[in-house]
Amino acid sequence: MSIVITGATGQLGRHVVEQLLARGVDPSTVVAGGRNQEALAELAGHGVRTATIDYSDPSTLDNAFVGAEKILLISGSEVGKRSVQHKAVIDAARRVDAELVYTSAPKATTSDLILAPEHKATEGLLEGSGLTYTVLRNNWYTENYDDTIRHAVETGSILTSTGTGKVASATRRDYAEAAAVVLLSDDHAGEILELGGDTPWDMDELAATVAEVSGREVGVTQVTTDEHVAALKGFGFDEGTAGFVAGLDANIADGLLADTDGTLSRIIGRPTTPLRQYVTEFLGK
Ligand SMILES: NC(=O)c1ccc[n+]([C@@H]2O[C@H](COP(=O)([O-])OP(=O)(O)OC[C@H]3O[C@@H](n4cnc5c(N)ncnc54)[C@H](OP(=O)(O)O)[C@@H]3O)[C@@H](O)[C@H]2O)c1
Repeated sequence: MSIVITGATGQLGRHVVEQLLARGVDPSTVVAGGRNQEALAELAGHGVRTATIDYSDPSTLDNAFVGAEKILLISGSEVGKRSVQHKAVIDAARRVDAELVYTSAPKATTSDLILAPEHKATEGLLEGSGLTYTVLRNNWYTENYDDTIRHAVETGSILTSTGTGKVASATRRDYAEAAAVVLLSDDHAGEILELGGDTPWDMDELAATVAEVSGREVGVTQVTTDEHVAALKGFGFDEGTAGFVAGLDANIADGLLADTDGTLSRIIGRPTTPLRQYVTEFLGK
């Protein structure tokens, strides 16, 4: 029997594979899947089995899922195609009757978050699948702000349209540990887990943290959504991407990523990575 990690070639998936191995899982029972062959070869170096998995090619799913007991479906990155792709994964999981764990988004079924609809659709498919499943509703990665932190140190400024909205972020490693814990236990079967960092923060706090850690003064410039779109286009983003990024900031301003209830730290048995610790490590201080 095996544990299959889809999207293992990506940043979250690699952490999950590492976390499984760190917990003593026999590498020969782990199947790391993805499309990127170089990344698969690198994963094979850790002793795990690897499989080409393309969500748009059901034959690759059937091949990777032979003997699967549990499958972690890491949501795809091709926004707009994901409901169909995730359906293919769920259908293939049904053919081998494996348990599924799915990475979703905060309050996916009720949220106005612009990324929620595909997660809501996937959770609906899981509900109707007859499979045993767990949903990991991951809040934002703290790593989403790497460019913002770097830019803040370079220019002394953060441009944002998030207002006073807070983000309950945690690191990919925090979420990956939770995924590993859930995969290795039967305690969370059937649960929908809202996962986020212990302490939500806003852009003023991020600026103050970067200033404290780097020694450079950092100011926050709040703009409207339209002004933000224009500024992003000025930085070279195309219209669609600029609208998407500013739309997510508008979601944050509306408080859609602010809630957290400590579930993530309870599952991983330690506090989530504090913002200050992340910024300190990121800046190599
Ligand atoms: N919570 C957040 O803040 C946040 C931020 C960004 C993304 N996300 C979501 O969380 C997921 C994991 O995050 P991440 O940082 O690990 O993203 P990532 O580094 O971009 O990795 C995405 C993974 O998804 C795989 N993938 C994408 N489309 C696929 C397809 N059609 N068939 C098979 N595999 C496919 C990629 O495989 P290959 O590279 O091998 O093609 C890769 O392994 C993302 O895909 C996205 O849904 C969440």
